[in-house]
Amino acid sequence: MTKVQVPVIKTEGLTKQFGSFTAVDHVSFEVRRGEVVGYLGPNGSGKTTTIRMLCGLLHPSSGHAQVNGLDIVRDSEAIKRQIGYMSQKFALYDDLTVIENLSFYAGVYEIPRATEKQQIDRILNMAGLTARTKSIASELSGGWRQRLALGCALVHNPTLLFLDEPTSGVDPVARREFWDLIYTLAHEGTTIFVTTHYMDEAEHCGRVGFMNNGSLMAFDTPRELKAHFLHGAAWAIEATPLLEAVDILSHLPGVAQASMHGDLAQVILVDNTVEVKTLTQGLETRGIAVGKSTLVEATLEDVFVLLAHKR
Ligand SMILES: Nc1ncnc2c1ncn2[C@@H]1O[C@H](COP(=O)(O)OP(=O)(O)OP(=O)(O)O)[C@@H](O)[C@H]1O
Ligand SMILES: [Mg+2]
Repeated sequence: MTKVQVPVIKTEGLTKQFGSFTAVDHVSFEVRRGEVVGYLGPNGSGKTTTIRMLCGLLHPSSGHAQVNGLDIVRDSEAIKRQIGYMSQKFALYDDLTVIENLSFYAGVYEIPRATEKQQIDRILNMAGLTARTKSIASELSGGWRQRLALGCALVHNPTLLFLDEPTSGVDPVARREFWDLIYTLAHEGTTIFVTTHYMDEAEHCGRVGFMNNGSLMAFDTPRELKAHFLHGAAWAIEATPLLEAVDILSHLPGVAQASMHGDLAQVILVDNTVEVKTLTQGLETRGIAVGKSTLVEATLEDVFVLLAHKR
């Protein structure tokens, strides 16, 4: 008999209103143990607000959610001990050293004195910070600060980790190294819930949720999202003059976005019922010379554009 696993996160109609404004609107999803879930969406779409509710920092206006089987309102204190949260504007103590910051968080999480050193050494190792224990936090580069912030969020061995734009503003090499750490954690069984605006990072998540105006528009694997939303809905069109063609295309009905891709115009259509012939005819009647149209392999960024368009 297979054991039914309690989802690590389960939300049902989770909603948050600030006055008359709905920041998170009836959001429902489940996350299983060991998943790496990306939570995407335009600025202000409700990602951080969702995370703050799941961390027990903000009460929902309506709906429910459980984290590790615990209710986010009733059991928020117990939840805080089981999760790690690296907030969007993570707080490090700038005038403290690396090791002092970790030690501070060990205190916050009430790590027993007897195991604190061992625990901190483990984090220093994992984050590659062993050579920097005495560096002052304010003097670390962006990438190292991010690693230290991750270390602080992990000091109490959480089974679930919320990362809110952990890599914003760090260079591509540091981002990749940071993601190697995330995969290692996930491989060891930690569940990761991460927001990002980087599509290359989203492509590497097991599943991805898309938020828009507080609503969860989709929640699936990157492959399924592309297949479902973009089947036959992205085209590259040869057109001259190109700039004018892109401008015309972006105003044609059925076009979610038109942009320049090298020397081609790329269009994302709202769905695959829109015929590319209608678009090329639309261009020709406006005096644009049109060449070949090719169906292109869509990216997660295209899905993002499409879903953000469906306001
Ligand atoms: N405490 C608050 N009081 C009033 N409005 C708030 C509060 N917190 C968030 N909001 C609003 O709720 C909406 C969602 O904010 P949220 O921070 O969740 O967005 P986000 O998806 O995390 O955006 P970003 O990508 O910019 O981080 C925004 O319009 C924001 O201004
Ligand atoms: Mg945010």
